Amino acid sequence: MRLKNVKGAKEIINSSPYVIQNPKTDSKIFPNQNPIQIEIGMGKGDFIIEHAKKNPNINYIGIEKFDSVLVRAVQKLHEVELPNLKLIRMDAEEIADCFNREIDTLYLNFSDPWPKKRHSKRRLTSPYFLKKYDSIFKDKKQIIMKTDNRELFEFSLISFNEENYQIKEISFDLYQNEEYLKNNIQTEYEKKFVSKGFPIYYVKVVKK
Ligand SMILES: C[S@@+](CC[C@H](N)C(=O)[O-])C[C@H]1O[C@@H](n2cnc3c(N)ncnc32)[C@H](O)[C@@H]1O
Repeated sequence: MRLKNVKGAKEIINSSPYVIQNPKTDSKIFPNQNPIQIEIGMGKGDFIIEHAKKNPNINYIGIEKFDSVLVRAVQKLHEVELPNLKLIRMDAEEIADCFNREIDTLYLNFSDPWPKKRHSKRRLTSPYFLKKYDSIFKDKKQIIMKTDNRELFEFSLISFNEENYQIKEISFDLYQNEEYLKNNIQTEYEKKFVSKGFPIYYVKVVKK
């Protein structure tokens, strides 16, 4: 998702208390020891904001690479107070420079599929990225993924297997699985795809 330039986006982002301005040097992001969950490619933030509202005892960080998208999440936060949520404008490429054994869970929702084979390394579930994530996790490494894209899903399952992740939960049609669905929080893309009747692929994997 790349939205056309939003006037004043940089200023809004730079002055928001929700945005971590120097993610590589700011060491203490939250004033407590609660678990930290992150979403890479959070888009306009619906998913991570809803999670933060529902779970005040979990800390959340939303990561997005484009100002024009991140600013939409920042604007949604103008009227609310969520001390357990922070946002970072950053490319996932840099993730290992920001976190060192701090993260509990990584969410990847409707990540860009990069369908061309020569771009497969850019997929956020490629072995290249899974290796990068290794050092960000505190203890067990947990990734929760949703996508509408069957090819990306199959590619991701192979990557997870190659990198020694074990499947804990899986569904090839999340909306037919009452158990997984009861705690599900929708993303912007998910709302669109579900309204069109597309199946949503879901997997939770863990590496010890
Ligand atoms: C298809 S959208 C999905 C947005 C949201 N997760 C949802 O489900 O509605 C993918 C988002 O990931 C962001 N993104 C893609 N590659 C990224 C990267 N390497 N680092 C950070 N964000 C990235 C894009 O800018 C875009 O906002």
